[in-house]
Formats: sequence, structure tokens, C-alpha cells
Amino acid sequence: MTEWWQRGAVYQVYPRSFADSDGDGVGDLRGLRAHLDHLAGLSVAAVWLSPVFPSPMADFGYDVSDLCDVDPLFGTLADLDDLVADCHARGIRVVLDWVPNHTSDQHPWFLASRSSREDPRRDWYVWRDGAPDGGPPNDWRSEFAAVGPAWTHDERTGQWYLHSYTPQQPDLDWENPAVEAAMHDVVRFWLGRGVDGLRIDALQRLAKDPLLRSNAGSDRRHDQDWETAHERLRGIRRVVDEFPDRMIVGEVYLLDLPRVVAYLAGGDQLHLAHNFVFVHLPWDAEAFRAAIEEFEALAEPEAWPAWFLGNHDHSRIATRYDIGDGDDGGHGPARARAVALLLTALRGTPFLYQGDELGLPDAVVPPDRVVDVDGRDPERAPLPWRPPSVAGPGAGFTTGDPWLPLVADAERLCVERQAADASSTLSLVRRLAALRAGSPTLQTGRQRMVDAGPGVLAWLREDDDDRLLAAVNFTSEPRPLPVDGEATLLVSTDPGRPPGRDVELGPDEAVLLRLAGG
Ligand code: NOJ
Repeated sequence: MTEWWQRGAVYQVYPRSFADSDGDGVGDLRGLRAHLDHLAGLSVAAVWLSPVFPSPMADFGYDVSDLCDVDPLFGTLADLDDLVADCHARGIRVVLDWVPNHTSDQHPWFLASRSSREDPRRDWYVWRDGAPDGGPPNDWRSEFAAVGPAWTHDERTGQWYLHSYTPQQPDLDWENPAVEAAMHDVVRFWLGRGVDGLRIDALQRLAKDPLLRSNAGSDRRHDQDWETAHERLRGIRRVVDEFPDRMIVGEVYLLDLPRVVAYLAGGDQLHLAHNFVFVHLPWDAEAFRAAIEEFEALAEPEAWPAWFLGNHDHSRIATRYDIGDGDDGGHGPARARAVALLLTALRGTPFLYQGDELGLPDAVVPPDRVVDVDGRDPERAPLPWRPPSVAGPGAGFTTGDPWLPLVADAERLCVERQAADASSTLSLVRRLAALRAGSPTLQTGRQRMVDAGPGVLAWLREDDDDRLLAAVNFTSEPRPLPVDGEATLLVSTDPGRPPGRDVELGPDEAVLLRLAGG
């Protein structure tokens, strides 16, 4: 049986930047509810919301101070219930972002934990004495280079606490069964409320060397991806399986595919994993082919792939892939379109980050507007809904001052303009999504890579009598199209494709064809 999370795309909403209903410059749940037509137009299977829980916003919601409520900036728990109901009425599932590795330093658990060495919550977090030289207990570093050591000294109790991210995000101690049980109850809280799934933030961090040994001098890291991760994940999955038809997707931020795939094994861990190896690929057909084939070779046959090339932590696709070999750029828009076809036509669940459907580039964020500790503001710029010339500088995202500047070309890239233009990226992405929604072959058909010559990634999708061929030209030159026999062009990403060009792929072009005689 095809599961809901296999059929269509999962669309990531970064709630601060999606749509603002109350003019405070920050997106909110009511703003999102007012734009569900946009999601329906993309035939998405599910929407994943980056965290909306109460938070001091040191890491824009990934520092959670109440795990079972909604931050007033975004609305109320009732607004979230209404959003879930409205999504369900449209056949869209809702996935929340669960942050189990750490809480905010303002969470009551941590306030208690740091209050004294004797507090019953002391051992809910990772507290240690400093090294003999007075420095931190070991050499672990924060994920954010600007933060430095992953330890902060606490004057009051004279010990250090661990934080894999900012000092405002102390790591919970998952070695403590009481922590594990409390976090399982958070899963029950949200799934019991009708949420369809969870994205598990920083899953690789849930298990660390219990002896807290330094990384230096070891051939492996001790601050993440410890063996115990899998048992812990199985514990989470058992809780998830108390509820029918739910899905968990893990952020397994490891650049080693065998280790990522290990989190999908056995049918009792993740349903889906974000594959960061994919996000770090250069724009190169051979590199993409190798990454796809490696995943398929490693994963058990029942493990299901998921593919993404953009999220709120990485430079936007249209910017990342803008520069070609030996030129000054300008490839971004065409490659963003090619990526849309690639993600739609690969076997596996596509993840789309809000704005990818518009081909948005990174925004330019002047130094005095920088708010993120790790340089991620440009990809988090608010969505432009309407032309600023009509809707004002908030471009339909807000009537107030947006919390981050919008992309420079909001006038041309906004949803309203693109919706009215059949050759726009938005129109293309809608067409691709509709094709996938109506095609069992694209959803679950078999997949086979095809040799298509240097610089071209091509693959077949097959199901009963239906045969589709997808091809992406990663080069800036025309390339032969790898088809013998008759084929019907279903979609090209090049709006200027000459009608007679049936033997060739244009530069940066991707196509999807139906082959005759399947
Ligand atoms: C991964 C999230 O995607 C990122 O935005 C966040 O800063 C870290 N985890 C810490 O929660």
C-alpha cells in the first residue's frame, strides 16, 4: 500500500517568513491558514512547520521553552488545531518540528537544573566539572562556528553545561530515563492532538559517548551518532506506532550515507530521513548519479528515499547553483527549475522548502539586519506574495516591517505575478506536482538509471505499461537527448524550448517524457 508520505511532496513552511496576519512583521499560523490554497495548488501531501512552540527565539524557535504549546507570536494552540483541521479538510497532513536534543535555557526544566547541584532536575541536562586546567570538560565544539566550545560555565553552581548549538540551547541528557520518558510524552501530546507526523530535529545528537571523551585523537566523533542512537530511536518509534498512520522524518545531519541509512533500517526506526549528502553535492550529473545509486545500494528494499535540496539552513538552490563552470553565473533560475523536475521525478518523497516553488534566490541581508548566529538569514527571507508596487514594501507578506528584508526582485518573483504567467517557475512546479499526483509511475514506479553521456543525468520510471524518462542536463551546452524511438514530451523546464527541438536538451534543461510501447 502506498502511504501518504510516499505519494506527494512535503512542503516545509518556515512560519516566521510565510505570511503575517497581524502586521507585526513576523509570519504566524493565521497567515498560513489564509494561504492554504497555495499549498493545495502544489498538490502537497503534507506541510512541515518549523517550530511554533514558545521560545525566546535565540535560534528562532529551535530553542523551545514549552514543548506543548504555541508561541503567542505565532498564535495559540487553538489556532494550531484550526490549522490542522483546515489542512485535513484539504487532504494535507501536518508535520511538526520536534526538538528532542535540547530545550531553551528558559525552559522550566533547565531553570530548575541550573538552580543547584542538588535539584531533582540537575541530571536532566549534561553538567560536568571543568578540566584540570580550568577549561571546559572536553574538546566538543558547537555546531555553530561563531559559538566555539559546546560548553558554558555556570558561575552559580561552578560547573559547565553542554550545548551542541547556542548556549541558550542546553542539551538534554538522554542517558537519563526520566528525560526519555518526558520526551515520549511530548510525542504523545502532539500525535494525540491529531498531528500526522514529526520531523525530528538533530536526531544524530540524541546519543553521545556517555563517557564524554574528546574527539581529538579518535577516529570517530564522540559528540553524536553513538551506537545508542538506534535503540533510542526505536523507543520513539514505538510511541509513534501507538497512533495509526503517522510518520517520522529525521534530520540525520551526517555526511556519511551508510550512517544515515542506518537510521532507516529494520522498519522500526525512521520512515524518512533528510539526506544531507545530497544537499552538499556540486552541480554535476555524475555526482548526483553516484549519490542516488549509493543510497539505493545501501538502503533495505523497503526503506523509502526522500530527496531535498533546500531548507532553512542552506543557501537557496537558485543561489547555490548560480555559478557555472568558468562563468559569472546566471544559471540559478534555470537550475532551480531543473531541480524541481529532478525532485518530482526521482523515486522517493520530495521535500520542498517554501519559496523553492518560486525559484527564490537568497536575499541580501545588510550587516545591520543580520539576526542569525550562523549566517542563515538570506534563505529565511519572507515570501513575496504580491508585487510591492501594488501591495507596498511588505509584498503581501506583511503590512508592517518584515523581520528580515525580502528578496530584491520581489516584484517579479512574487506568487501573484508568477501565478499569472504560464511560463513561470511557479506554474512549472504546479504542473509537475499535478503530474505526479496523477501518476502512480512517478509515485511508486520502479527506477533505473540510464547512460546518457557526460553531463546528463537520466533515469527511467516504470510501472505496468507506463514508461517515463527523466533527464537533466547539468551542463551549459546542448546535449543529445537519450531516447531512441517515439516519445512524448510531458514537460520541459525551458519555457523557450523550440517546438522542433526533439533530439536535444538545452543548457540547464530538464525534461520528462513518456516513452511509447512500454
Ligand atoms: C537543525 C535546525 O534545522 C536548525 O535550524 C537548528 O539551528 C538546529 N537544528 C538546532 O536545533
